Amino acid sequence: MDNLRFDGRVVIVTGAGAGLGKAYALLFAERGASVVVNDLGGSRSGDGSSCKAADSVVSEIRAKGGKAVPNYDSVVDGDKLVQTALENFGRIDIIVNNAGILRDKSFARISESDWNLVHDVHLKGAFKVTQAAWPHFRKQNYGRVIVTSSNSGLYGNFGQANYSAAKLGLVGLCNTMAIEGRKNNINCNVIVPTAASRLTEDILPPDFFAELKPELIAPVVVWLCHETCEENGSIIESAAGWATKCHLVRGNGALLRHKITDTVAPENVRDVWNKLTDMSSATRLNSIEEASSTLLGVLDEIKSGPQETENEAVGVFSY
Ligand code: NAI
Repeated sequence: MDNLRFDGRVVIVTGAGAGLGKAYALLFAERGASVVVNDLGGSRSGDGSSCKAADSVVSEIRAKGGKAVPNYDSVVDGDKLVQTALENFGRIDIIVNNAGILRDKSFARISESDWNLVHDVHLKGAFKVTQAAWPHFRKQNYGRVIVTSSNSGLYGNFGQANYSAAKLGLVGLCNTMAIEGRKNNINCNVIVPTAASRLTEDILPPDFFAELKPELIAPVVVWLCHETCEENGSIIESAAGWATKCHLVRGNGALLRHKITDTVAPENVRDVWNKLTDMSSATRLNSIEEASSTLLGVLDEIKSGPQETENEAVGVFSY
């Protein structure tokens, strides 16, 4: 097996002082990358700061012969992280947006400051760090970006409305960065991890927790960031030595009117609700253009009027 190497590549891993970020930083360094180990060093809820977390990971990497420097800034000051990479290693190739905090509260009890801080660290942080690196990626016609989402974002989770919103926001951010970066060989993907860390120690059952080592997810992130990996704009879920791709799907839908001169009443929606919500033959749409073109197909169907048999399928839509 020829090894995947990162010699000459420079990586910023945010929140790399612990948990998943630490595992990513160690593996990148082991594979020859120069690593900026960013960590604010605060509490799980984002209070305080310290150099300790980043320093200890940098020491561990250097002790193994790897190349790393610490950075203690918050990800909201993204340009400072990129500056650290440029000053120490002269370039930036890969950003792993991983830093995260939790401020769990039921929706009714979320304060505006909890909402803002969670969004700042997860969503704005990824925006700021990646945007600061973007001109360098474009100039060198190469870049790899990871954003970190969560099943809490994809499916929701009690007590995590602020976090869920930020985490699904990251999927939207990645979707568009992937489109805009493509022509400059900048690939952006989402990782959805489940791992043992201080964020999950009181959430996951102990037996399960013990098997969810961050080191089992790091190889997935590292592969996604390799120059030979062409994946772009995907959501990759990983845990416990397993990984898969996830995406949104759309059902075939139902027509709410049958002639172009018809209007749509709430009763028309009610009457086809089962068909409209039937996901048994749902499909993935690959782009906004594809979504728009299926709408044109719908309009054509309506313009051509009702078909003869009730169950006859017309294109992807049917009565
Ligand atoms: P962790 O708490 O062990 O690591 C997060 C690191 O981010 C900490 O070292 C923290 O100091 C750092 N950090 C926090 N705010 C920062 C800021 N403003 N600037 C720079 N660094 C900051 O947590 P874990 O579990 O390793 O989480 C990593 C990422 O994975 C997070 O984005 C989290 O939301 C996400 N995630 C984790 C899951 C899990 O099962 N552990 C599940 C789904 C998502």
